[in-house]
Amino acid sequence: MDVKEAIHNRRAYRSLDPVEITQDLITDLASCAQLSASCFNNQPWRYIFISDKETLTKMHEALSQGNEWAHNASMIIAVLSKKEYDCVIRDRVYYHFDTGMATAFLILRATDLGLVAHPIAGYSPKKTREILGIPEDLEVITLVIVGKHAQTIHPILSDKQKEAETTRPERFPLDTFVYLNRYTTK
Ligand SMILES: Cc1cc2nc3c(=O)[nH]c(=O)nc-3n(C[C@H](O)[C@H](O)[C@H](O)COP(=O)(O)O)c2cc1C
Repeated sequence: MDVKEAIHNRRAYRSLDPVEITQDLITDLASCAQLSASCFNNQPWRYIFISDKETLTKMHEALSQGNEWAHNASMIIAVLSKKEYDCVIRDRVYYHFDTGMATAFLILRATDLGLVAHPIAGYSPKKTREILGIPEDLEVITLVIVGKHAQTIHPILSDKQKEAETTRPERFPLDTFVYLNRYTTK
């Protein structure tokens, strides 16, 4: 799969089947994040790869309503960082940008391997911290839900979520966010 194909194939699917999680898979995904660019090569990202069944089950209580589909995750990747790990240049703070880029690489590699890697914001950072032993000063930026895309749509999904399994949610047209040569009011 080339990069463009991986970008096109990546979807935030919610109907998940189990997939085997091996140390090789974790190393492969982490190695792709590792090669991402970062300000001054600060590499501000931190990842907890959770595939232990007991911990995955504990994580259910950290998920927000509407994210019950993530109970079928074979792995959850907690994405962590903090401001102090990366450049702060006057009002420009780079840790979210750099961690986001690295995580996008990880997600695209998971897609390339035929997996679903779906980032979510619907979770309690407090409960996630408690369950995973994350210190207060590290931000839990996202959880990436990993599994294999199921052939059938999971009945637990809402109507909107069911629709998104077959139809990609619409995007803004290019001309709403692309400027040529100069910023203009749109
Ligand atoms: C930061 C972030 C937070 C998200 N949070 C959730 C979430 O809590 N629950 C969920 O089902 N999907 C979540 N999504 C997935 C988006 O809804 C999805 O990416 C968007 O609808 C576009 O669909 P697509 O990724 O399949 O193209 C999140 C995505 C991102 C990047």
